[in-house]
Order: sequence, then structure tokens, then C-alpha cells
Amino acid sequence: MNAREPVVAVVGATGAVGVEIVHCLEQRKFPLSKLRLFASARSAGKTMTFRGETLTVEELTERSFDDVNLALFSAGGSTSRKFAPIAVERGAVVVDNSSAFRMDPTVPLVVPEINADAIRSHRGIIANPNCAAIISITPLWPIHRENPVRRLILSTYQSASGAGAAAMEELRESTRAYLAGQPYEPKVLPHPYAFNVFSHNTKIDPATGYNEEETKVIQETKKIFNDPNIRVSATCIRVPVLRAHCVSITFECERPITPEEVRERLSNAPGVALVDDVERNYFPMPVDASGRDEILVGRIRKDLSDPSGRSISMFVAGDQLLKGAALNAVQIAELL
Ligand code: A2P
Repeated sequence: MNAREPVVAVVGATGAVGVEIVHCLEQRKFPLSKLRLFASARSAGKTMTFRGETLTVEELTERSFDDVNLALFSAGGSTSRKFAPIAVERGAVVVDNSSAFRMDPTVPLVVPEINADAIRSHRGIIANPNCAAIISITPLWPIHRENPVRRLILSTYQSASGAGAAAMEELRESTRAYLAGQPYEPKVLPHPYAFNVFSHNTKIDPATGYNEEETKVIQETKKIFNDPNIRVSATCIRVPVLRAHCVSITFECERPITPEEVRERLSNAPGVALVDDVERNYFPMPVDASGRDEILVGRIRKDLSDPSGRSISMFVAGDQLLKGAALNAVQIAELL
């Protein structure tokens, strides 16, 4: 290891996203002189493997960042709100996966394929966007750049991983209980998860009728595209899938657009792969997206409800833990 390379900390290393951040750092050969792993006191002393070495998880405290140059946070909003400013004060740059700072106008909100340049203005913290937002808008950017998207309607099919490792376990356990005909009391999510579908488990804003997840997708799209005028509506739904989100997307552009043009623009777009085999009826699915870096895009077709020819419907699937979270955070760190 090279001593001039940064000391990197992963905060929330034992969580669903934290584990994937450690994998991404290893797989992408991220240059670092030392990796430190932090979680709550519950996990202190646990071990994880990185590049063949066994590393011990430490309890996160105010002293944790004394020698850290780069900190990747994925331990929830309250941990970020408390500890990210401390890390910055100690001289570290923070890439934060929580929603704590995303809408702060002084904090860049970055998807490297879209707005890598925004990183330049950072003052210590760079925010990683909401997973449903990243997965929805990464494939829209190559279209938006050429023929601006004026209106966007999204319906998500979100997996358990977005609610953390405990929610993934709840999906496994409740499915086993359901199949065995045994009762199961949900502990993490508000509704039975096995063989069920429900509205996203975040609070509804009584003023708008939109839940927090939907509001994040709407606001973050405008910030990342740097386009306050784009009209966005979202319906966010939790489905019993372990780790990849799907989104049904309908968008209206400024000028007419054809499915062939969309396919053409997406065929070489970074971070995107076309899975659009009409003959075999083979389209993006969570089982194919899981473990893949790219967002899969298919069902690309004219929106028949818009006779002006400016609207397209499509369906995407992306690994929530990778491009939706850990991979995007590590890509931001690479840009730094
Ligand atoms: P721990 O495993 O010790 O609870 P997930 O999103 O999968 O639920 O993971 C959340 C991550 O954030 C875990 O690594 C968890 O650690 C960590 N975490 C939760 N609360 C705190 C806290 N107060 N201080 C540090 N890490 C925390």
C-alpha cells in the first residue's frame, strides 16, 4: 500500500450498502493506504475481509476521523447529520449516502454519468442521491441532453435492500413463515412483506399527498439535471424483491422522439445496458439486474396516450445496492 494514498473510512460498514461499498472498493482497486470500518457499538469487534486482510469493525465516535482523508457514509440520516460535519472538520471529504444533505444548496448531489462537474464546488460533503432517483434518471440523461425531458411520470417497484439489511432478512424470514403456514409479525416494515406489495414505507406529506420517497425522487431529479422546470410525478411502491429496484417510466420531450432514437442514444450510454428483446418477451428484471453495475433498460415504446409523438414509455431495473448506492458513492470517490 502506498502511504500517500488516502486513508478511507466506511461508516455503516456492516449495513447492506456498507458491505457493498467495501466490495466495490476492492473490485475497482480503489487506491488507498488504509481502510477503516465503522458501525454502531453493537458491531464493534466484528471482522470483515478486504483484499485478503481481516479488518476489525470499530465503534463510530467523534475521534474516529483523526487520520481519515475520505469517508463514505451509509449509516442513516441522523448518523450523517452528527458525524459528517465532524469528519469534515477533521479534514476528511465525505461522500454521504443518506438524505441528510442532499437538498442543501451548498452540497453537490452527484450521479457521475450526469453531473460529475458539480463535484468541483464541494465544501467537504458530496451527497449520493436517492436510489430510485439514480436508477430512474441515469438512463434518461442521454435523452434529456439532446431533447429535454419536460414531463416525467415514474412508478417504482422497490426492493427490500433499500430499507437495509434487516428488511432483507424480514423478506426472507416472512417468506419462509408464509410458505410454512406460520404467522409472522413484521418488525422492520409496516406491512406483511411476503407475497405482498405496498406503498413505500415513508411518511406522506399531507400538503401534497406524496410520501417522502416520492418527494425525494421529484426534488433530486430537478437538482441533478439542474432543471427546476422539469415536471415530475412519482408513485413509490415496495415489492417483495431482495435487491434490485424497477421503475416504469413515461416521459415527454420538448420535440418529437421515436423509440429507435431512444434505443440509439442508450446503446452506448455509460452505466446503461439495453435489454429489450421483443421477440423473446425478455426485458429488465431484478434477477438480471442484481449484481450488475449497469441499469437495464427495455420496453422502449411510443406512449400511445400522447398523439404529438413527444412521449416514450420504458421499464428499467437497477441494483439498488450497487448503482443505486455503493457503486455510485465509490464512483464519486474515484472522481475526487
Ligand atoms: P450496526 O450493524 O452496528 O447496527 P442498514 O442500512 O443495512 O440497516 O445498515 C445501517 C448501518 O449503519 C449499519 O452498519 C449500522 O451498524 C450502522 N449504524 C446504525 N446506527 C449507527 C450509529 N448510531 N453509529 C454508527 N453506525 C450506525
